[in-house]
Amino acid sequence: TKKLILDLDTGVDDALAISYALGSPEVELIGITGTYGNVLLEQGVRNALAITDLLGHPEVRVYKGLPHASTADGFEVLEVSKFIHGNNGIGDVDIPDSDRDAETEPAVDFIIDAVKTYGKDLVYVPTGPMTNIAAAIRKAPEIRDEIGGIVLMGGALTVCGNVNCCVEANISQDPDAADYLFRSGAPATMVGLDVTLQTLLTYEETRRWRELGTKAGAFLADMTDFYIKAYETTSPHLGGCGLHDPLAVGVAVDPTLVTTLPMNMQVDVEGPTRGRTIGDNTRLNDPVKTMQVAVGVDVPRFLDEFMTRITGLAES
Ligand code: BDR
Ligand code: CA
Repeated sequence: TKKLILDLDTGVDDALAISYALGSPEVELIGITGTYGNVLLEQGVRNALAITDLLGHPEVRVYKGLPHASTADGFEVLEVSKFIHGNNGIGDVDIPDSDRDAETEPAVDFIIDAVKTYGKDLVYVPTGPMTNIAAAIRKAPEIRDEIGGIVLMGGALTVCGNVNCCVEANISQDPDAADYLFRSGAPATMVGLDVTLQTLLTYEETRRWRELGTKAGAFLADMTDFYIKAYETTSPHLGGCGLHDPLAVGVAVDPTLVTTLPMNMQVDVEGPTRGRTIGDNTRLNDPVKTMQVAVGVDVPRFLDEFMTRITGLAES
């Protein structure tokens, strides 16, 4: 079986990404690495531990990543993140803290060790800033060629950003790390707003989770309703909430869910477009393309997979 590592700033859609992975028998979730973004690092790690417990998977190990971008002094959660994900990241729903702690091994070392152990069988799925994976590649550059793949949620190529007109949230937190990753030559698939704003969830689906009558179903429904409500304010034209992070997991499990453009990408690191994801002009004519950018998605098939897997997991 394919091995997955999820790298999360555990907010609402990150929690749904955990659920999707745990509901997918084709993959084994060998660990979660924590990052910052929707919440501070510590809160994200706490959420990941509590959620894996609640979903009946206390065997999933959680590792602490870096607390902020290497080019920043620290990190503060944006007001908009609190509005979309709640103060605690999981829609202000109260769930019991785990008895477990994060592992003592730092996330960056765990990522490198996992690549050494599983090689091409390992897919790494970052759904927050790209800080941890960039640090891992800097520390052990050979993992770039040894890893099976990276499926990242972040960026936008054919649509506007969600932080400003050209910048998406995950990339905005650490544009330098994302640029380093994009230019590193690592095999990466970008699952950005181009596709994740096409996969939407509504109260109709969360009602089905609530009707299961389980703790997991109630948690997922309450948490996601908070997120849908926020989307009603910030993006009323959509008619639902974006399933950003679960789509990245969906693509890691089954790449045929999306159509992609082979490209060499870069991130603007200077000027007013800092954080924009765009083709790298200097490698335009390079016959080798190191990234795949998702530009189309089979929406009905993904939503069907999403509901089957998560409802199945939340049933018991
Ligand atoms: C991304 O930003 C975060 O708020 C979400 O969890 C997702 O990973 C969407 O732009
Ligand atoms: Ca996220």
